[in-house]
Amino acid sequence: MYARTLATFALVAPASALIRFGCSQLVVERLDPLVTPGLNPSPHLHQIIGGNAFNVTMNPSSGDIAERATCTTCQFSEDLSNYWTAVLFFRARNGSYHRVPQVPNIGFEGQKGGMTVYYMQDGLANYAQTSKVTAFKTGFRMLIGEASYRTKEQANRFRQITYTCLQTLGTRYPETMHLPKEPCPAGIMANVRFPTCWDGKNLDSPDHMSHMSYPELGTFENGGPCPESHPVRVPQLMYETIWDTSMFNDKELWPEDGSQPFVWSMDDSTGYGSHGDYMFGWKDDSLQRAMDSPCYVNCPTLKTQSIAEMNKCTLPSVVDEKIDGWLDTLPGSPTGV
Ligand SMILES: *[C@@H]1O[C@H](CO)[C@@H](O)[C@H](O)[C@H]1NC(C)=O
Ligand SMILES: *[C@@H]1O[C@H](CO)[C@@H](O)[C@H](O)[C@H]1NC(C)=O
Repeated sequence: MYARTLATFALVAPASALIRFGCSQLVVERLDPLVTPGLNPSPHLHQIIGGNAFNVTMNPSSGDIAERATCTTCQFSEDLSNYWTAVLFFRARNGSYHRVPQVPNIGFEGQKGGMTVYYMQDGLANYAQTSKVTAFKTGFRMLIGEASYRTKEQANRFRQITYTCLQTLGTRYPETMHLPKEPCPAGIMANVRFPTCWDGKNLDSPDHMSHMSYPELGTFENGGPCPESHPVRVPQLMYETIWDTSMFNDKELWPEDGSQPFVWSMDDSTGYGSHGDYMFGWKDDSLQRAMDSPCYVNCPTLKTQSIAEMNKCTLPSVVDEKIDGWLDTLPGSPTGV
């Protein structure tokens, strides 16, 4: 498995020191313990990976999720964090909706849905990965993206929340900020990259974003410095989710006006409302140890589990609603968020 992962990785974007790993689906349900803690159900549907301590409410006062979770769907078994995004649907000509299945990246065959997660010290294109980063702390959480955004002008506030129209599973360029307008033979990859400068004090903030910042000048990728207000350089966290649109790619099924038929679970067909959520849950200092060692994808300092073990970690949905098959409305009938 690792040999294939490495070979694939080298084709995609060679780098020598970063961690990249697969995580199977934990659950798909209408909960959002970061934005709407305690609310069951939340306004729109999410797909969630990681540790099985995921719940309606996950306030830092309820304790370290690395202690409370007993398993994780991620390949690195010391990572009990939770990661989640919105869910992509196909809207048929008759107005019915169908959830788009998720598939793993090449090299992670057997992984059940889910995502690929990266923690990077430098941009993907930097072979050496030489910059130092400070790992996130217990109780840290953040969000990037805004579910209600529908225009490019709004989405310009964020960097690197993008889509790749997959010609094959190996396609990585170009990336667009809007959902692809033409059928993508191997699916649509949704990419979410988080900001990389932390204020060094707050584990969270009211909007779940302002304790974080992008570099003051330049970009993370070209080594831009962090602003004085957010001086602590943290790893760049990135999610890749592959939505397997192949069963919906026949243009006969697409809207007659020529528009594209895919829509996020918050009723966004532009793509500008894409967002990702993160709750840190690595055991002890495992993430810092990994970031401090010259790791190359398969990181010997970390404990790994097999894909079969990842797939065994599951969590029943606590929200009683139909999300599979053809649906008359998006779950929760969201109006924009
Ligand atoms: C979720 O929270 C409820 C209420 O606090 C608790 O009973 C339940 O065990 C929790 N579930 C998990 C998976 O931690
Ligand atoms: C709507 O269209 C889809 C795709 O063509 C079809 O499978 C489904 O049965 C239709 N639903 C209704 C209620 O007609």
